[in-house]
Amino acid sequence: MNTSNHDASPLTSAATNSKGRRLCPIALLDYCDGQIDREALQTLAGQSILHPRQFNRRTVVAIAQLAALLESRNVEMDKPLDGKIAITAFFEASTRTRLSFESAVLRLDGKVLSVPDGQVTGIAKGESLADIGEMFNTYGDVVIMRHPDTNCLDEIGKNLQRPLINAGNGSGHHPTQALIDWYALLKWRPELCRADCPPEKRVHLGIIGTPGSMRAVKSFVRLALMFSGAVKKITLISELADPVGLDLTEPIEESPIEIEIINDVQEVLPELDVVYVNSIAFLGDSYRKLDARYKLDASSDLKSGAVILHPLARNDEVSENLDETEHNLYFAQAAGAVFVRQSLLTSVLDRLDRISGLGGS
Ligand code: CP
Repeated sequence: MNTSNHDASPLTSAATNSKGRRLCPIALLDYCDGQIDREALQTLAGQSILHPRQFNRRTVVAIAQLAALLESRNVEMDKPLDGKIAITAFFEASTRTRLSFESAVLRLDGKVLSVPDGQVTGIAKGESLADIGEMFNTYGDVVIMRHPDTNCLDEIGKNLQRPLINAGNGSGHHPTQALIDWYALLKWRPELCRADCPPEKRVHLGIIGTPGSMRAVKSFVRLALMFSGAVKKITLISELADPVGLDLTEPIEESPIEIEIINDVQEVLPELDVVYVNSIAFLGDSYRKLDARYKLDASSDLKSGAVILHPLARNDEVSENLDETEHNLYFAQAAGAVFVRQSLLTSVLDRLDRISGLGGS
């Protein structure tokens, strides 16, 4: 095997998040005895990743395990994506998602065709997404797309025959963000991997936002419902009486996890182990920001040891004066994105055999 060891990478351990908690991937690997669930990863080969319902607890943990192996840099790889081209087609603004996907591809020795702004495509001349999908079939091997229209996946899917990864579709879903969120939580507390997490390690999740119209929040909740042995309670905190939305109604009703909806964050903040915050709700082609009363800062009544997750970008709902505190998990969360996306792309493009130390066949 021609090897490329990650020790040669400029992404040293010091180059993860600069502030807040730093998460050690080794803790997650050790917890799983270094055994990565290759069989679960293989189920993703050739698949489009459109919706978090495609995952289950086992696949989420397996993606996190491989991400941890890659982040640990204690791995030998034989140019996993050599010969593969990823198209990143972004019809809506992004800092993290596009660039971390592109970084992931390049670090795996693949190549990238990047559309950072959909307006430079034929869309500006009235071309349909369906026709663009037809073109992509010959240009690349996987398409990673963000679009403000919730129906965009069906539209491009009319002709696209390559795996499509949903990088955010309007108010729909952001499944790979949810994988990143759970990667951070599993590194923070590896016991959450278990179907029968010890009671004292189970977490009370507080979610500030509106899952019905916030795609990252919705996808995070969808995955949280898969961890019923690790999540003891979910509190949705919103100014709306019903922030859940259609897509989550049934999974919430069927979940054994206790779920409550409240509108006063102060009422529950001191009880929460994890506070997930997002700021932007998508309303068709416009946005609505989180209500001002839900802002967090260093004086907020957070429980000792509680952590804050935020998919970012933030506005003023999480004050910068939290950045240097133990509550800041959001920078470590963002820092995990490249590894999660490396893990996912290697699985989807069926190149697991090019990473040593995975076990199985
Ligand atoms: N978390 C996230 O989706 O960030 P970007 O909008 O910067 O891609």
